[in-house]
Amino acid sequence: MKELSLHILDIVQNSIDAGSNIISITINEDTIRDTLVIKVKDNGKGMDAQTARKARDPFFTSRTTRKVGLGIPLLAAAAERCGGSLKINSLPGKGTEISASFIHSHIDRAPIGNMWDTVSGLIACNEDVDFIYTHVFNGNTFKLDTRDIKKILKEVPITSPEVIGWIRDRIKDGINSMYGGGEYENNTRAGRDKASHPSDFKH
Ligand SMILES: Nc1ncnc2c1ncn2[C@@H]1O[C@H](COP(=O)(O)OP(=O)(O)OP(=O)(O)O)[C@@H](O)[C@H]1O
Ligand SMILES: [Mg+2]
Repeated sequence: MKELSLHILDIVQNSIDAGSNIISITINEDTIRDTLVIKVKDNGKGMDAQTARKARDPFFTSRTTRKVGLGIPLLAAAAERCGGSLKINSLPGKGTEISASFIHSHIDRAPIGNMWDTVSGLIACNEDVDFIYTHVFNGNTFKLDTRDIKKILKEVPITSPEVIGWIRDRIKDGINSMYGGGEYENNTRAGRDKASHPSDFKH
């Protein structure tokens, strides 16, 4: 079973390919309503209605290197298998929002997976893109916005390894406390330099 974090990576890669420089990733888990909703919103080139419709078709891709595009169809299939659906909201020149819903407790629902490596990896590889990661679990919210971090870092690049390590740990700790501390037991910061705030990083 594919972890949802890998689907998210695929969908965010589409946003990057579409020239976005601000990408929001939102995961909203509600175990009372029994829903899980993943949203990826970008300010990239967008799609017209026909392209957005075709994007669900595995044999449509704007890639020139191969004939299939699977990112969207695979996430759509995963959502539909779990009593949910995938929606595409897109405007040419404005951006795209992809939203996938799942029944939270559905037996076929893949685990969310490792969002701290996913998001910190995206930040590390895309210096000029700002990411806003929001994760909500039954109303408890964790949020990370690279625009805030960049303001504090000033001329220190956000992609420097110690900053990326800090971001990764911050997401991991944040998700942990959002879940109430019990969901992920391995919460160690093995061997990593601990810095408590981005302004602690040397210029
Ligand atoms: N955020 C987006 N902005 C603009 N166009 C998009 C976006 N996401 C998808 N598309 C369009 O939809 C097509 C299908 O996307 P999909 O992820 O399913 O396949 P792909 O990206 O072409 O290939 P793969 O994901 O398998 O590498 C893309 O080729 C692109 O034309
Ligand atoms: Mg893709």
